[in-house]
Amino acid sequence: MQFFDYENNELYAEQISLTEIAQQFGTPCYVYSRAAIEANWRAFDNALADKPHRICYAVKANSNLAILNILARLGSGFDTVSIGEIARVIAAGGDPKKIIFSGVGKTSAEILRAIEIGIHSFNVESGVEITRLNTLAASQHKIINISLRINPDIDANTHPYISTGMKENKFGIDIADVLPLCAKIKTFSNLNLIGIACHIGSQLTTITPFLSAIDRVLDLVAQLKQQGFTLQQLDLGGGLGIRYHNEEPPTINEYVMGLREHLADCPLEIILEPGRAITANAGILLTRIEYLKHTQHKNFAIVDAAMNDLMRPALYNAWQQILPVELNNKHPEKIYDIVGPVCETADFLGRDRKLAVESGDLLAITCAGAYGFAMSSNYNSRPRAAEVMVDKNKVTLIRRRETIDELYAGEIMVTE
Ligand code: LLP
Repeated sequence: MQFFDYENNELYAEQISLTEIAQQFGTPCYVYSRAAIEANWRAFDNALADKPHRICYAVKANSNLAILNILARLGSGFDTVSIGEIARVIAAGGDPKKIIFSGVGKTSAEILRAIEIGIHSFNVESGVEITRLNTLAASQHKIINISLRINPDIDANTHPYISTGMKENKFGIDIADVLPLCAKIKTFSNLNLIGIACHIGSQLTTITPFLSAIDRVLDLVAQLKQQGFTLQQLDLGGGLGIRYHNEEPPTINEYVMGLREHLADCPLEIILEPGRAITANAGILLTRIEYLKHTQHKNFAIVDAAMNDLMRPALYNAWQQILPVELNNKHPEKIYDIVGPVCETADFLGRDRKLAVESGDLLAITCAGAYGFAMSSNYNSRPRAAEVMVDKNKVTLIRRRETIDELYAGEIMVTE
């Protein structure tokens, strides 16, 4: 935890103490380190520096405009899955020509808007989508770039909810269907097939499944070449895992070097779509203990963040480290379940954690920069948390805490 570290027994984000941030912005609050985001993105980019490539950050991991803007300024491309994400990228100063639109359920309205904006390409997930894309592109008198997202039928050995590359998953095109589909694409005059894409899952902690996927992709590229298709790019998706607990994933550099070795002399442009590996360890969720509740069976630390703020523990039984912001030996060490105020037993942020804390103390839930705020909700009518960005000794509010009024601003009562 280089970017979040203790100094004089107090946890800092870069050069700013989290206690100060809590005083200034309140809790719960997401705190991001700009240096961490930039270092992670650059690690991907540098590892491919001498090859045609584009790092397309997966916006779904964390779509705050400040984060997208920082990445856009580094030259990042963006992998998006909705017109909302595309709009965010544009609003943040991202280049439409570096946007990829992925996803199994693109609506006609979304496709038309993306064509109008002039995005780089669509990652297509089915035959029916191909037909729809051609019709819509023709209606706009445009020729659009597409890549076929294949489903390589590979077990990514990750949580079943975030595994995407197996036959029974809804994602991608079965490899056996690719050649017939390509024949169909040839007859469509508004589509330009530029590549093959695949994404087999998220939080992968070994490189082997990625390499198996590359084998299948390269095999397909060779077959397509025989059929007269000259491709420009290979999109190998995202999915590199991080260390939440005791996982030992490859570093970004090891991962990219491993892919490169396997790609050998493949001359195509390499696209990567990392999300978690760029923002997860660049963020923490700062929360305050409201109550310590001791029962005969358990000790609970009831905090002001909840499953609506950070859903990963409830949804995937995910383990994220929980650190006291101040280290001291004033309080007895006990085993706690760290829970929120939401009325669900699934509302836990961590279970069976050893902590020496008192009510009023601050806790930091680490590696919360990806799939944290982005998956948050208003459940139990809880305003969504504030988000701040730390840059060395400077802290900036990048999303103000929602107000109570905003919770129901769009709601309308029936008058009769
Ligand atoms: N590309 C595509 C097509 C994707 O579906 C995803 C993630 C990514 C790239 C980025 O994957 P990453 O590099 O972040 O692993 N909410 C879950 C993760 C869901 C991932 C969905 N797709 C979690 O909190 O673990």
